[in-house]
Amino acid sequence: MGFHTFSIDRADDLEETDRYRFGSREELLSALAPGGEEVVADVGSGTGFYTDEFAPYVGRMYAVDVQAEMHDRYREKGVPDNVEFVTAEASSLPFEDDELDAAVSTMTYHEFASDAAIAELARVIRPGGRVVTLDWSRDGTGTDGPPVDERFGLADAVEAFEAAGFRTVDAATRFETFLHTAVR
Ligand SMILES: C[S@@+](CC[C@H](N)C(=O)[O-])C[C@H]1O[C@@H](n2cnc3c(N)ncnc32)[C@H](O)[C@@H]1O
Repeated sequence: MGFHTFSIDRADDLEETDRYRFGSREELLSALAPGGEEVVADVGSGTGFYTDEFAPYVGRMYAVDVQAEMHDRYREKGVPDNVEFVTAEASSLPFEDDELDAAVSTMTYHEFASDAAIAELARVIRPGGRVVTLDWSRDGTGTDGPPVDERFGLADAVEAFEAAGFRTVDAATRFETFLHTAVR
């Protein structure tokens, strides 16, 4: 089960550009490998800090967040034309079976991770589609991000996605984070 939901009171922190120290547009786009027409969900999109980085390279982007207030903060900032808001729990996504080409999630896996949420991703992502997960690693130092005991390790993500029918195609633990790419 995931840990605490990120507080709306700290939404400004999500717009700090020093966050690129922990995950760059470059590496996230390389992992997603979009062709330009994909339908992609950003699960736990927050203020859209990373959603904005993906949107120019895909067909449609769903910004999915359980907190409607996060969408409000994103709206205040300005939203790309191809981004649509969805207020929903990761474990109950309002998409048809196989509707999505891909999903991405940045710094949120530790908040939504559960068998139900990963099964839901397996349901809505088409065969051959992918999920890119960047999150704080349990093997990190804890000097930034959530406490280490509220994080998962890369092996936890690999096991969870593979149990739900995904195949891991890329996986790395770095200094403070892990990056995992799985194909359904
Ligand atoms: C730490 S923030 C990261 C936001 C964004 N991905 C980023 O990197 O800037 C986590 C976000 O995930 C959302 N969230 C947490 N649990 C969720 C769940 N179970 N389903 C959907 N969204 C969730 C929170 O509301 C919050 O906006």
